[in-house]
Amino acid sequence: MNRLSLKRMTIVLAILAASLTLTGCSVGKGDAVAGERIHEVCLSCHDTSLYVSPRRKIESLSALHREVARWGDYYNPALSEQDVNDVTAYLNTAFYKF
Ligand code: HEC
Repeated sequence: MNRLSLKRMTIVLAILAASLTLTGCSVGKGDAVAGERIHEVCLSCHDTSLYVSPRRKIESLSALHREVARWGDYYNPALSEQDVNDVTAYLNTAFYKF
């Protein structure tokens, strides 16, 4: 890899990092207390032990947000964007702690 493409790569990585930080900010808008209440519907399938399992799959705040949105779509009507932010805030505060 020559110097120029290395520099380009650095720029691309910097942009990626910046956009991840921005996603993190929107996740931060969630209300964990409201999220805990909304999350009760999720307990029909699993308890909260899978969030602290050593085999848990979610490894970042943005992945957690995506996973909550995915499960939110399972419902009809789907969870709103605000609901997804709230549940993400709850799960991160209580369990994942990213
Ligand atoms: C129909 C059953 C079902 C419902 C309803 C459900 N889940 Fe799940 N969920 C699962 C199963 C099964 C898994 C594990 C397998 C997988 O990753 O797909 C899982 C995995 C997860 C994980 C990943 C855990 C990890 O770190 O590995 C998260 C986060 C999660 N669910 C959140 C939610 C939330 C939030 C809701 C409610 C909005 C919800 N789930 C509703 C079945 C369900």
